[in-house]
Amino acid sequence: MAQAKIQAPRGTLDVLPEDGARRRELVRLAEGIFGRAGYGYAETPIFESTELFARGVGDATDIVEKEMFTFEDQGGRSLTLRPEGTAGVCRAYVEHGLHKRPQPVRVWYLGPFFRHEAPQAGRYRQFAQIGAEALGSDDPSLDAELILLLSELLERAGARGLRLSIGSLGTPETRRTYSEELREHLREREDQLSEDVRARLDRNPLRAFDSDHPGTRAAVADAPRLIDRLAAEDSQHFTEVRALLDDAGLAYEVDGTLVRGLDYYTRTVFEFTSEALGAQSGVGGGGRYDRLVERLGGPPTPGVGWAAGVERILLASLAPAAEERPLVFVALERAEHRRAGFRLVRDLRAHGVAAQMEQAGRSLKGQLKHAARVGADRVVIVGADVLRVRDLRTRDERSAADPDEALALLLEQPPR
Ligand code: HAM
Repeated sequence: MAQAKIQAPRGTLDVLPEDGARRRELVRLAEGIFGRAGYGYAETPIFESTELFARGVGDATDIVEKEMFTFEDQGGRSLTLRPEGTAGVCRAYVEHGLHKRPQPVRVWYLGPFFRHEAPQAGRYRQFAQIGAEALGSDDPSLDAELILLLSELLERAGARGLRLSIGSLGTPETRRTYSEELREHLREREDQLSEDVRARLDRNPLRAFDSDHPGTRAAVADAPRLIDRLAAEDSQHFTEVRALLDDAGLAYEVDGTLVRGLDYYTRTVFEFTSEALGAQSGVGGGGRYDRLVERLGGPPTPGVGWAAGVERILLASLAPAAEERPLVFVALERAEHRRAGFRLVRDLRAHGVAAQMEQAGRSLKGQLKHAARVGADRVVIVGADVLRVRDLRTRDERSAADPDEALALLLEQPPR
């Protein structure tokens, strides 16, 4: 009896080989960029204790309130599939005493993240992020360095229509005083607000700036701006970050209402969007989180970083033209030539030449068609007494008496 098909869960993505090549290329690009800037590759677990995100990302965020994949393990402990990477990196920093190393500690990471959001183009329930964090210094050059690294990655990946917004959120204290002021402003316009924003007015009025609800947007249009309320040293820090970006010639827009969906930010926040993307236009973003390590039980430690969505970077970029690379296809006149063909393929690969052979029982004609399809520039047809080495571009053909001779021919005639 035919079995029902099993489908992947909603909002997840299969990466098929044709997409896999672009993803690997992006990772190679990131590796080079981070390597030159002194960022070391790090990994943290894909699941962490739920408490880490509740405390780290913040109880009043959408992520913690409604987007986490949380489950209990056999011992009754609450675990969560990581919705983001910063909390885990900070936990590891505390757990391994990395504050005792020379500061700043710079890391980059790559991997899957999970958020239970409504799936749509560019928004998935499992997605990949490339991210970077620098812990242990509040020097404005780190903020600028990280923004420039993200900019370089996105540019070199070919992301189109990029825009950079930056802002500053100051300290939690400034934000508290400001929140009071904003709350009062919004209370006076309460009947205009979306239900969501109204429900959060007490806990997190800043989220009103994130809303696309028309009434809420109207209510925040003339609201006081946090960026105008910063303490002198935070304002100075922001000025310095901007000066470094100006020196680097990076274009940005200061957005006094930039709020990000995570509660740990202090001072600098930034976000790159791409016009090539639809509603989910955020390609990458981040900021400073000078209180997070302490909130996770570590010593007072400033930090700054960002993450960018791998799928969104690729969606925002045009696929590069397929790269031509030399490839030998070993065709078999008959199935019994498998062993000779297999040996030739092994030898070619051992000499650093890309080689494939017939492994699906096609006719010789079918094999030659297949060789062209996989992009081979040369074909070897293995027969009983002779091996024919054919150049598919020039149609040149030479004969060899055995696999060794064929190998010699293929190696002496280096691929173009
Ligand atoms: P985030 O802005 O929440 O920041 O996520 C960073 C990037 O991940 C987004 O710009 C987007 O490209 C991608 N992303 C987020 N959610 C989804 C989704 N559902 N589907 C596809 N892509 C998605 C953070 O995660 C912070 N940890 C960044 C950070 C690091 N801040 C400081 N250090």
